[in-house]
Order: sequence, then structure tokens, then C-alpha cells
Amino acid sequence: MSILRTAFLKASESAWLRERAPRHRFVRRSVARFLPGESADDALAAARRLADSGISTLLSQLGENIEHRSGAEAVVEQYRDVLARIHAAGLPSDLSVKLTQLGLDLDPEFCFANLAQLAESALAASTPGGGTIWIDMEHSPYVDATLEIYRRARAKFPNVAVCVQAYLYRTEKDVESLIAQGANVRLVKGAYDEPSEIALPKKSDVDENYFRLAQMLLSAEARKSGARVALATHDRKLIARIADWAAAQGIPRDRLEFDMLYGIQRAEQLRLVREGYRCRVLVSYGSYWFPWFMRRLAERPANVLFLARNLWGG
Ligand code: FDA
Repeated sequence: MSILRTAFLKASESAWLRERAPRHRFVRRSVARFLPGESADDALAAARRLADSGISTLLSQLGENIEHRSGAEAVVEQYRDVLARIHAAGLPSDLSVKLTQLGLDLDPEFCFANLAQLAESALAASTPGGGTIWIDMEHSPYVDATLEIYRRARAKFPNVAVCVQAYLYRTEKDVESLIAQGANVRLVKGAYDEPSEIALPKKSDVDENYFRLAQMLLSAEARKSGARVALATHDRKLIARIADWAAAQGIPRDRLEFDMLYGIQRAEQLRLVREGYRCRVLVSYGSYWFPWFMRRLAERPANVLFLARNLWGG
């Protein structure tokens, strides 16, 4: 892992920095590239603009590791309000939630009940291309609990889906069992600082594992069981490799969904839609953006130059 990536991932866990860094104007200016704004209004306006270009969205209020029940309850309330607004506007928008934001650290049962409320509201307010509650995958200590809550929720609600990370050795086994359950899965490379005992340390190995897991999730067996995959990556080489492989298997383009983050690879998002693939963009909002922004910097060292330019710009 590069020194810079490690440094940013460590910074993402620092409460001291989280408190202080957002006070600086150059940091706030830099985050604006990835965040259309802090309010739900900003996110919904971005979702409308993207929908007008044929791109669906995932809306996500930034926040993690909520420490009080009232905090998690407030998150549920605001998401229910956003679901009602998605429905009223007829937007092709899903939600993407972190279980630690719904109270996983406090009590798994409380977290499950919060997730169930959201799944129920989303089902009642679904729109064409919207209405799924996606569960993000967080740090490795949360993987078992996340998959367990996902499985319980999926048994009751068809509109719950989960993310898995290609950098973890365990993910192949998890994917096998998710395929057997006909799950709806988002495949990502993985954004956290993980030890080499449990995660592939070399980026090229992560890329290769991503390709193999994508093949598993798009296989005839997976399609027969009703499993679906959203391929969340900005890696254009990998996207082309998966698209070529899928074409050779006779998988229609509109069966492939590529998901990206707001503000990253915009031209690629439009190209995918133009060429008949599906594309969904994750739009984050909220004021708790510091750890999330540090993970975005860790993903691409060139973003640091962008930060520096904003610093010199005043
Ligand atoms: P990679 O890091 O190899 O980047 C490929 C290319 O994409 C780069 O060369 C660059 O051009 C561009 N790029 C990538 N990241 C960039 C950035 N931050 N800024 C500018 N350009 C960038 N992770 C996780 O652990 N749990 C989760 O639940 C999720 N959820 C999630 C949802 C969605 C919709 C996306 C797109 C991603 C996630 N992730 C995630 C993050 C994921 O694990 C991963 O860290 C990032 O997607 C970066 O990896 P790439 O696959 O894009 O490839």
C-alpha cells in the first residue's frame, strides 16, 4: 500500500482532524468536486440533472459510527423524508446506507429495526429505477454483522441489497453464498485500511480478484438464481474487460450496471449510457464529510494536487 494512501486512511479515522480540517476554506472548496452540496435539496437537484442524462442515482447522507440512538433515529427520519421526495419527483434513485449510521455499534437489533423501517418505506414509495436500500460495506470487523443483517432483511424485503469488497480474501466465499440466495450485490474494490492477513495488499491482485468476482456474479448460475450485480468502479480498463467478457457470453449490455461516485469520470458515465449500459452515480450529502473525503483522496493521489491547488488559490 502506498505511503500516501495509508496516511489518508489514517487521517480518515482521526477525530482531531475531523473536528478541525473542515474549518479551512481550501478543504471545503476541494470537497465540493465530489459533493454537490451538504443538503438533501442539493443531492436531489443533482439526481434530477443526472436523471435527465439517463443516469440513475444512489443518495447517501454522510455519517458513520453513530453513538446515540437519537442520532440513528434522526438519520432514519431524514431518509424517509428523502424517499418521499424521490417518490414525488419520480426519480430513479436508491438509497445507500451505512449500518453504523443506523446504530450497529449500539445494538444490532435496533440497527435491524431501523433498516427494516427504511426498506418498508422505500418499497411503498418505489419509483421506476428506484426504491432499493443498498447497504454499504464498512471496515472488516463489521463484515459478518453486516451480512447477517442483510440476510435477515432480505428474507423480509426484496428491495435490500449489499456491497462486497474485492480486496478481502473472504469475499469469494461470501459471493458464493450471496449468489445462492439470489442477492442483489454491489461489487467494489474496497476503501479501508486493512491488514494483509485479511486483504490483498497488491492493487493488481485486487483488480484481478474484482474481475473474477464480476464473472461469478454475472455467470449463468448467478443469473438463474436471480442474483444481480452493480459493478461499482471508475477503472476504465476493468470496465472494458468486463464489458468485453460479458459480450462474449451473450449478456446484453443493459444487464450491466456500472456505478460511480459523483464528480468522478463524468465522461465515462455518459459514454456508458450512450452505448446502452446502465449507470448509477452515488451522490453524497451532509456535513459529516471529512472521513469520506479522506478515503476519496486515498483512492487517487492526484486528488492531493487538486487539494493543493485550492490551498494556493487562497
Ligand atoms: P481505482 O482505485 O483503481 O481507480 C481507477 C481510476 O478511477 C483511477 O485511476 C482514477 O482515474 C479514477 N478514480 C478512482 N477513485 C478516484 C477518486 N477518489 N478521485 C478521482 N478519481 C478516481 N468502498 C467500500 O469499501 N464500501 C462501500 O460500500 C463502497 N461503496 C461504493 C459505492 C460506489 C457507487 C462506488 C463507486 C465506490 C464505492 N466504494 C466503496 C469505494 C471503492 O471501494 C473504491 O475505493 C473506489 O471506487 C476506487 O476504486 P476504483 O474501483 O474506482 O478503482
